[in-house]
Amino acid sequence: MKYVLGIDLGTSGTKTVLFDQEGKAQASCTVEYPMYQPHNGWAEQDPMDWYNASVTTIRTVLEKSGVDKKDVVALGISGQMHGLVMLDEKGQVLRRSIIWCDQRTAKECDEIHAKVGKARLIEITANPALTGFTLSKLLWVRNNEPENYKKCAHILLPKDFVRYMLTGDFATEVSDASGMQMLDVPNRCWSKELLKTLDIDESLLAKVYESPEVTGHISDEAAKLTGLSPETLVVGGAGDNAAAAVGTGVVEDGKAFTTIGTSGVVFAHTDKLAIDPKGRVHTFCCAVPGAWHVMGVTQGAGLSLKWFRDTFCGPEKDAAVQLGVDPYDLLNKEAALSPIGSNKLLYAPYLMGERTPHLDADCRGMFFGLSAMHTRRDLLRAVMEGVTFSLADCLGVLHEMGVEPAEMLACGGGGRSPLWRQMLADVFGCPVATTVNTEGPALGVAILAGVGAGLYKSVPEACRAMIRQNPAQQPIAENVPVYAKFYEVYKGLYPANREMFKALAAL
Ligand code: XUL
Repeated sequence: MKYVLGIDLGTSGTKTVLFDQEGKAQASCTVEYPMYQPHNGWAEQDPMDWYNASVTTIRTVLEKSGVDKKDVVALGISGQMHGLVMLDEKGQVLRRSIIWCDQRTAKECDEIHAKVGKARLIEITANPALTGFTLSKLLWVRNNEPENYKKCAHILLPKDFVRYMLTGDFATEVSDASGMQMLDVPNRCWSKELLKTLDIDESLLAKVYESPEVTGHISDEAAKLTGLSPETLVVGGAGDNAAAAVGTGVVEDGKAFTTIGTSGVVFAHTDKLAIDPKGRVHTFCCAVPGAWHVMGVTQGAGLSLKWFRDTFCGPEKDAAVQLGVDPYDLLNKEAALSPIGSNKLLYAPYLMGERTPHLDADCRGMFFGLSAMHTRRDLLRAVMEGVTFSLADCLGVLHEMGVEPAEMLACGGGGRSPLWRQMLADVFGCPVATTVNTEGPALGVAILAGVGAGLYKSVPEACRAMIRQNPAQQPIAENVPVYAKFYEVYKGLYPANREMFKALAAL
């Protein structure tokens, strides 16, 4: 039996899982790290935290599983997308990474549109300039920290920094590189035109591969630290959403998934390039060579529930420790006691601004309709419903583009909650299923590693061998029209407050 390793570098922590070649998890380990928010709307992480977490989790899963390192033929890394890692010519980190949910770059987005032209930018990168994407972050550093920009010799994405530390190679792959906004997405290579217009030196950027291609192998030094063999191959890997698609088998036309991690995503595979002319959803290269995906993003999905848990749910957290259960299980039970519509309370999950469909870095979260009768359970349910409505906004844009998935796979932390999945089924009006293996992105990149190592001929073939699906949860007919009424009111919240958000941000 051969084994493949999947490393998922998330925002709250890094999770590493060792799988056998049939997709069965042998051992898993997660290490958490902080996110720094020096100002409202800013978000940074220390790249060395990611690397240290990777080393610890790899070493731990190898020890726990007892698998011989020689049988671990390949690994893949999946990661939070868009984060800017800057290295000097010696490969040292120059500053903390400005990560995906950071919103400081509105001015730089205007600069990109002014220089490149919005329509041309969408033709090349398939997306308008967005505060979340790497390019505007890079220009922010050039405008605000010229000394760091001058010293910068390499720009990497979060997972590609970990690859560099494990292998010594400067490499990336098409799915994650699509979110840098310097890739020619239709042609799957760096855009010379864009780089020239913005005066960015192409030598700063890593070599681009397809996701299942081998980019190198573990260095001797990393082998000593992790316990891996230097012969273990490293494949391109994928951005977290493209990886989750592979891990849930969404690798063919007609298939789609929703993930509720820190961010929330509605993702559909497409063999043909499809771009929303209004730029409300992203079009990226996917991890299947030669194909793309469209996806809508809710910035504060699981983040909303985590924020609520950490800020208001001390008693539940304490009780969970005493009972030895996951605090989210208690929160789910509590939320289930409130009725649909949370006793007429709505929540907008814009804690870190919003992408789909508003593309607004200045909007912020809110509860709407608070009454003295509301209790914590109503607020909790309202948070879960608000995130669900925001994901329904994403699905609505995909519908407008003619993408109508018949069934939705659910994954991410939120996808593990039966209550949340039922909300998705009732609000989306379609069946929502899960996969037996819930490792999503980690399994996805392990599958890519299996393809790169030659265990499988193609990504779809590997998915058929390694992924099993559970029966779907169906929409509950009487719930559907009740949610629909609350969703109508929810849809009015953003337009009614758009100018107020701007006024607040300007203070
Ligand atoms: C996708 C995005 C997030 C991050 C973090 O565009 O920004 O999904 O990848 O998970």
